Amino acid sequence: MNAWMEEMGASQETDTLLQSIFANISDAVLVVDHSGTIVTVNAAMERMSGWSKEELVGSKHICEICLGMATCQEESTCTDCFFKRTQMPSFEMRVRTKDGREYPVAASSTRLPEGADGKMVMILRDMTMQLRAEKERYQHKLTNFVIQAQEEERKRISRELHDGVGQALYSILVGLNVLGQGKLSGPMKQHVTEIQQMTAKAMEEVKRMALELRPSALDDLGLLPALRSLIKRVEKSFGLSVDLHVQGEWQRYSAPVETALYRIVQEAMTNTAKYAQAHTLGIIFEAREKELVVTIVDDGVGFDVELAENKGSGLGLFGMKERAQLLKGSVDIRSVIGEGTTVIVRIPVAKGEAEDGHSSLDRG
Ligand SMILES: Nc1ncnc2c1ncn2[C@@H]1O[C@H](COP(=O)(O)OP(=O)(O)OP(=O)(O)O)[C@@H](O)[C@H]1O
Ligand SMILES: [Mg+2]
Repeated sequence: MNAWMEEMGASQETDTLLQSIFANISDAVLVVDHSGTIVTVNAAMERMSGWSKEELVGSKHICEICLGMATCQEESTCTDCFFKRTQMPSFEMRVRTKDGREYPVAASSTRLPEGADGKMVMILRDMTMQLRAEKERYQHKLTNFVIQAQEEERKRISRELHDGVGQALYSILVGLNVLGQGKLSGPMKQHVTEIQQMTAKAMEEVKRMALELRPSALDDLGLLPALRSLIKRVEKSFGLSVDLHVQGEWQRYSAPVETALYRIVQEAMTNTAKYAQAHTLGIIFEAREKELVVTIVDDGVGFDVELAENKGSGLGLFGMKERAQLLKGSVDIRSVIGEGTTVIVRIPVAKGEAEDGHSSLDRG
């Protein structure tokens, strides 16, 4: 075999390899001519766009597929179009598919050298999954931030109420007691007694509000004592009988875990009190080796969970799930109309979590 034949064989091999790459690569590849008309596409481009090769080649202009590109300066623009450039190594583009959907893609474009009649080759990579994951990560971060900020703010207002307004009312009450013991006329004494009662009531109200905002017991004594006190208040206010069971060795857990569980149980209890018309509510805490499981069961009217979640009229169910998911846990809500509702919360805990995890919110 002479050198010319060897060269021919090698170049045929390279052509076959290039054709195979073009046909099998997962990125969409398309070539457009100097006027912008598509002259060839690979199979990935057909899959991405929904149009067949026959529908694209020779009849579609690049502007019928491109819905605009994003640059560092602008989110969607045609002014700095890649088509006017010789080369654009990386930009974002939105592709319009045959069924009218929009695809975000990472693109690159290169005008082919002399002899190719100004043809341009473009490579498009589907970014839907990456963008969705990025959006979810961002939303998670944002929710975490909002929840933490809300807890800190509740804690601050709760302290202000307790130590500020609460103390001031107490001082007024002490003053009124002194006044009441002095020599006063009958009507005046009656008047002072009434103001004493009103002040005592206002003090109770402030105490209740401070407790509801964020019970100091949650930070000082932990989840179970804080919940026991919440349960007493719910039983008194709503005439509901609540049974609390603890299985396993329940200890103090990290502040984010205790806060999340407190808020989730609080929301489930409030929902039961508000909507379930239940007689009893059972709360079971299970400290397992690798997770904490809390089950909240009511014997009320039940509801259509899917419908309530899709309707999105309230934030409670959504908030419960968000709080658990932020700690890599879950909330499962099962409800049967006429039979009641069960909420199962699972939060994973690492070994030693109880000992060293507590206090990040305490210190805050
Ligand atoms: N234990 C329950 N028994 C019966 N219905 C319930 C129960 N828990 C929730 N629901 C129903 O699900 C709906 C959604 O609950 P969710 O907690 O998300 O919102 P909400 O309580 O109405 O408002 P928010 O919690 O934001 O104050 C409620 O409106 C109620 O109809
Ligand atoms: Mg609710």
